[in-house]
Formats: sequence, structure tokens, C-alpha cells
Amino acid sequence: MSLIDREHEHFLQTYKRLPVVVDRAEGMYVHAADGTRYLDFLGGIAVNALGHSHPKIIEAIDRQMRRYMHLSNYFYQDAQIEFVERLCAASGYERAFLTNSGTEANEGAIKLARTHGHANGKAGIIGFSGGFHGRSYGALSIMDKPRYKDGMGPFLPDTAVLPFNDAAALRDAVNETTAALVVEFLQGEGGIYWASEEFVATMFELREKFGLLIVGDEIQAGGGRTGDFLSFERFGVRPDIVTVAKGIGGGLPLGAILATESLATVWGSGQHGTTFGGNAVACAAGSAVLDELAGGVMKHARETGEILLAGLNALATEFPELVREIRGAGAIFGIELSVPSGPFVDAMLARHIIVNSTNDNVIRLLPPMIYEREHIDELMIGLRACFSEATVTA
Ligand SMILES: Cc1ncc(COP(=O)(O)O)c(C=O)c1O
Repeated sequence: MSLIDREHEHFLQTYKRLPVVVDRAEGMYVHAADGTRYLDFLGGIAVNALGHSHPKIIEAIDRQMRRYMHLSNYFYQDAQIEFVERLCAASGYERAFLTNSGTEANEGAIKLARTHGHANGKAGIIGFSGGFHGRSYGALSIMDKPRYKDGMGPFLPDTAVLPFNDAAALRDAVNETTAALVVEFLQGEGGIYWASEEFVATMFELREKFGLLIVGDEIQAGGGRTGDFLSFERFGVRPDIVTVAKGIGGGLPLGAILATESLATVWGSGQHGTTFGGNAVACAAGSAVLDELAGGVMKHARETGEILLAGLNALATEFPELVREIRGAGAIFGIELSVPSGPFVDAMLARHIIVNSTNDNVIRLLPPMIYEREHIDELMIGLRACFSEATVTA
């Protein structure tokens, strides 16, 4: 029986997997068991920030593994503390709680916001259309897309989903019972959409007026991916709570809730916890990632992103009937099409290039942040060929 048949036999069939059985992955490339080499512009869905099998990450994991792998959060561990020091320095936040995933970070952030608001009767949590925050009930309760939620209700009380970038709707809905707004300043799964300046300004105005908290979900767009460590930096704002995950673990499961010093005493001993969160091996990998980001990888992504953006815009000019808009920065881009984007994932895969489709008509690019001009050239050849074929066929 093939490996694919064996997967079909035993897994709950929740994933639409690409028809590739992987042997190994290195740098910008994934090598299949049949010998095919694929250029990776998906990067483990924004996880492999430094590419695959980065030697510094392997070295850090190896070193930590030989000391110990897991102790529990009953102990003081240098691997955790050194990672959190780096994370606070990179983000400008003072406090952190370590998790295993993005969903877990968001679930904790919602709990932290409600605990903070509890004494003042604030329990309302508001999310925005197109947002993606994970698969827990907390996350799903503030997301709108039916395909993530169908048949799974009821969801959390005192939650709402408002239209993204609609400042008037936000003003109408927020009041003194609102505990927090949870927002992706750059929506990832939603199709690579930025929050508007007006919307961001309104959120922070309402924060002052009602004493609510703003939670920035930086799980996909954060970790340096836009060229800033956190995607909201370009707006000159500072949310009260920030969630990060994906890239900061360099391929191991690691996330964090970041909070300002003013929230340091909201939770006391035992009010929140996790067995694996802050696992020492994951933290060692995370420190290696943050060192590389600070050492030039973030700057590299910002600069290389300019080259990719110029290339994608040229492609948009070349195929005006097919390409509606190019959005993004650094190592996170969306190519919005006038047709469904799914078939282009298959067409690119046939050319040995891995891209992704999101929000039905957006080709999403999340390359490792180490990508170079030569990889952009390879990508462009593939995209141009696929777009030409599609234009001829149409
Ligand atoms: C913005 C955002 N938030 C939360 C999540 C959930 O993270 P995880 O899959 O690590 O639980 C994701 C995952 O894609 C995400 O993109």
C-alpha cells in the first residue's frame, strides 16, 4: 500500500494535502521521495522563517536535546528565559507567556483580556470578518467564515464578528462592556489584507474611550515576516496584547502571548498554564531564529520583498485581465486574481514550485525569509507560464 493510501486509511480527512511525499527539505527546497525538487514559496505556512534545516537551528536543538528536553514549568530554565528576553527585546513588550501554538496563544489572550476586564463588567470579545485566529472555540467565536465553523456551534457568549476595516460599524458596536478587540493588522488566511489607517486609528480611539484592550494577532504576519518584527509597527501603534507563533519556533511548536507591563499582575499563580508550552528544545530553536532575524534576516526579507513586489506588479501589468491586485511586504504576499486561485497551485506544483491559495482567489506566497533574487526569478518564470496558459485557455 502506498504512503498516501496508508494516510487515507487512518487519518481523519481534514487536510487537503499536496500530492507530494517528502523525503527531506533544505533551505528553499523540498525534496520529494521520487527525487523531484520543489522550490518552496509556502515555507510551512509561514513557519520556516530561516528555510528548512537551518544549521544554526539544528545546532541549537542538538545542544539543548543533549542537556534535557522537557522538565515542566515547575523549573527555572535558561533556554526559556533566554528566548523570552530575546522576544521582549525584539517586540518591545515586557511580559510573555509561552505556548505550543498560535491557537493556544490566542485562547490565552482572550482569557487574559477577560480576566483584566472582569472587575469592570467587561467580557465582550470582538473579531473581524476575514480574520483567522485558530480552531478553538475562543478563536472560532470571533471568526466569520462558515467553512471553519459549520455545524460546530454554539460558540462563546459575548463575542461578535464585525466587518474588517469598517470604522463606523466598530464605533456602533463597542461599549463599556467590551473587553477586547482581536485583530490581524495584516490578515493572512483572509487574503493578505492590511487594516486601513482609519480603522487602526478608530480602534485605538475606542481603546482610550472605553478602556478596552487591543490584541494584535501576529501569528502569521509577525516574527519579522513583513520586514518589521510585528506587522503593526508601520502604523506607529502598540496593542496591549500580541500573539506570536509559527516562525518564531523555526519549525518546532512554539508560540507566545506578549503583554505590556500594565498587564503583568492580571494573572496570579495557577490562573493559566500548559504542560509543553515553553518546551526547552523549542525555546533553544526560537533563540536561534531570533538571533538570525536580528542579525540581518529581517532586513534581508524587507529588501528582497521590494524586488518580489516589483516583479509581481510587473506581472500584474502583463496580465491585467487575470491579476486584480498585489498586496503584502517582505515575505508575505497575496496575488488577487479575477478567477479562482486553486488551479494555479496545481499548475505551479506541476512546475515544481509550491505556492498556496487562500480566500478562493488569492495566490499566497510565504517564502522562507532567506529567499534570494534567484528564487524570485524561478517563481516568476513559473507564474508567467501559468498565467499565459490560463489567458490562452480563457
Ligand atoms: C493569524 C493566525 N492566527 C492564528 C493561527 C492559528 O495558529 P496555529 O495553527 O499555530 O494554532 C494562524 C494559523 O494559520 C494564523 O494565521
